[in-house]
Amino acid sequence: MNIEEVDGLTAAALAALGSAADLAALEALRVKYIGRNGLLPELMQGLKAVPAADKPALGQALNRFKVSVTAAVAARQAALAAAAKAAKAGAFDWSLPGRWARQGRRHPIQQLIDRTSEIFRRMGFTVADGPDVETEYYNFDALNTPADHVSRDVQDTFYLPGGLLLRTQTSAVQARYMESHPPPVRIVCPGRCYRRDTTDATHSANFHQIEGLYVDTRVSLADLKGDIDHFARELMGPGVKSRFRTHFFPFTEPSVEVDFSCHMCGGAGCRVCKQSGWIEIMGAGMVDPNVLQLAGYDPAAVMGYAFGMGIERLAMILFGIDDIRRLYENDVRYLAQF
Ligand code: DAH
Repeated sequence: MNIEEVDGLTAAALAALGSAADLAALEALRVKYIGRNGLLPELMQGLKAVPAADKPALGQALNRFKVSVTAAVAARQAALAAAAKAAKAGAFDWSLPGRWARQGRRHPIQQLIDRTSEIFRRMGFTVADGPDVETEYYNFDALNTPADHVSRDVQDTFYLPGGLLLRTQTSAVQARYMESHPPPVRIVCPGRCYRRDTTDATHSANFHQIEGLYVDTRVSLADLKGDIDHFARELMGPGVKSRFRTHFFPFTEPSVEVDFSCHMCGGAGCRVCKQSGWIEIMGAGMVDPNVLQLAGYDPAAVMGYAFGMGIERLAMILFGIDDIRRLYENDVRYLAQF
């Protein structure tokens, strides 16, 4: 090995690097010349066998090899990158599909809150609300619910210190509202409710209801039936009817459960209504005089009706959602369908 030989190798290496066609070829050359098992280490090894007098000059030649090859690799790399960028900028592919900016939409729960509130708003109701963290008084006592009623059980209700709880029903807004507003009252109260339910396809510990309350000097069960029928048609379609089944709620007397005729099959029986032709939608009734009294109204002078329904249930029925958890997983791909 002599100096001319090394300088010749350097020149050859620089020529090869200068014409490397792409990054992969360049990398292969880098490995070949200055990689760990490449040409440079091999030459360095050879330096040991050279007479001492020749070593300094030859060592310098090897150093020139190393420095110039390293620089050439970097230069070629930059040149290839610049060329790729220029090629890209010049070539616009007009056949590429366009990019949509995804449009946001309201959550199905909010859609149902808006739809139901709007229907009642057109019937003369205003929207009222109350706190999620409620007192035991408004959630139960003011609603004529006895101290030993099952719904008060710690199994069913999330209790907080200091006589507070997470409201189990939007009915809690009733007495609150009546205490601060003289009759007549026509309100709907949408909002979150909480119960110690184990989550499954139809239960969630956190859900939504919308409550209705109408109090005036003359309000009858016929008004309730007529208004609910109207609501049923507005929400589910012109052919939908409602029916009342007797029931019990502490805060209404008489109390009913309300079914709507199935909007899918028109009442003939199908999968949605489990072949019965009817779908249970809400609880309702004539406000118990005790509730009016506790709120400071004169039960001899005013009367009213009330109702309450689950929003998740409405959303599931109307949108054909089979599992309540779908509403809370917040998978935008799923929710964007509705
Ligand atoms: N609060 C009841 C529930 O959560 C629903 C309800 C039934 C509300 C009858 C009412 C009513 O206002 O009159 O199951």
